[in-house]
Order: sequence, then C-alpha cells, then structure tokens
Amino acid sequence: MADKQNLLPAGTKVPEHIGVIMDGNGRWAKKRGLPRKVGHREGAQTFRTITRHAKKLGVKYFTVYAFSTENWKRPKDEVEAIMDLFEKYLDEVRDFIEENIRICFIGDRSMLRERLQQKMRSVEEDSLHFDSMTLLIAINYGGRDEIAHAARALAYKVQSGEMEASEIDALALENELYTSKLDGDKAPDVDLVIRPSGEQRLSNFMIWQAAYAEFYYTNILWPDFKPKDLEAAVIAYSDRHRRFGGI
Ligand code: FPP
Repeated sequence: MADKQNLLPAGTKVPEHIGVIMDGNGRWAKKRGLPRKVGHREGAQTFRTITRHAKKLGVKYFTVYAFSTENWKRPKDEVEAIMDLFEKYLDEVRDFIEENIRICFIGDRSMLRERLQQKMRSVEEDSLHFDSMTLLIAINYGGRDEIAHAARALAYKVQSGEMEASEIDALALENELYTSKLDGDKAPDVDLVIRPSGEQRLSNFMIWQAAYAEFYYTNILWPDFKPKDLEAAVIAYSDRHRRFGGI
C-alpha cells in the first residue's frame, strides 16, 4: 500500500468520510461535440481512479453520487446509458474487491432493473469483509427521500409497539438512514463534500450526514478531475478549523 505520507504534506488531516458529487460529465462531452453519454463514460473512468486514490490517501468512507432520485427526469437514453455504465462497473468490480475495498449502495433500489439489484446485492455480499475503505455508491438516492424513508421506519416501529413516539430523537432517526444500514456497519457523518464543475449546491446529497461537513468546490469538470485534485481538496480540508457549533 502506498504510504500516504508520500502523497500529502506531513501532518495533513485526512477526512474519514468524503462525499463527491460527480458533476460536469455532460458539459465535458458538449465542449468536445460528443454525446452526453460519452461524458458519463469518462466520468465512470474518473470514478475508478479517484476511488483508488482515496484509499491510498487513507480515507475510510468514500461516497459518490452516481444517480439521484431527480435524475429520472433526464432523457430515457441518457438514463439507460448511466444504468449500463453502472452495470458494467458491477461486472468489473472484482478489481476493487482485490483491493480490499468494501462496496455498499445507498438509495431506493426497488426502482432499478431486477438484474442490477441482484448484482448490487452480490457485490455487497462478496466484499462484506474487506476493510481498507468502504465505498458507498448513491444510486436512486435523495437526501429527502432517505429521511422520509427513515421517518416511515420509525412510524412503523411506533405502530407495532416496538418503541414510543417520545423516544424518537435525532439518533433514532439517524439509525434508520441508509448510511446506518450497511450490514452491521454505520458510516460516520461526511467530513468533506467535493463538488467539481463550478456548481456550489448540495443538490439533495446527504443532507443529514453533511450537517457539519466542509465544502470544497472546483471548476474542474468531473472527467478531468485527477488524483492531485483530490489531494488539493484534502489539503484544503486539513487547513480548515471545524467548530461543530462550538467556538
Ligand atoms: C452529473 O453530471 C453526473 C451524473 C448524473 C451521472 C454520474 C454517473 C457516472 C459518473 C457514471 C456511472 C457511475 C458509476 C458508479 C460507475 P451531469 O450530467 O449533470 O453534467 P452536466 O451538469 O455537465 O450536464
């Protein structure tokens, strides 16, 4: 394993959990006169490279926003292209498994193709005991949808008498989020959210888990995002002073 000391200045604080909004694939393709799906293909390649690099830097949880609950509004052929890339990745993911990376998915998978759902489950099971880093892929994911899903789960528990309504607090709700249901593990809050492509929005990404996250924006389009850009984001994070509501 590469020594993170060789990659980052001495004393750099590496975030335990990084979230990435992989934005700018469409614009990357448009700039080159190519179909948007080519941008997504390049973006999928960048995703592979940057995930491996996150592990080398010592990141423990790495979450990527691959497809949002709102992305269904896109043209059918673009949605199909993203799902195809995702399925191709699941077929090739054995490479990641060799790298000791655990893979989990967050989001409402009930709306995805049946074959895709089976492959997701099988990758989760096969990588269950890998522990160098946990990769969370957010697919058909929306922060509001996740919170509504958690609220519903708590309502059912109250309805069945398993708990009292008065017992519902922030921790009880958090424990029902997708990020708390990782087959025996619970991801910590996101420390750093990276959004390339010049947009400065959260776009319904981990709205609960990012409550105290630091944000890093860059104009680079996702397909052009390089390992050194991830290092720059980590170094910027390391220089921030986090107060968590204190002083
Ligand atoms: C946002 O860029 C990107 C997406 C909605 C899709 C991201 C998907 C991938 C990178 C590939 C599949 C994922 C995996 C995990 C293999 P955009 O299309 O909104 O870009 P734009 O703002 O320039 O139009």
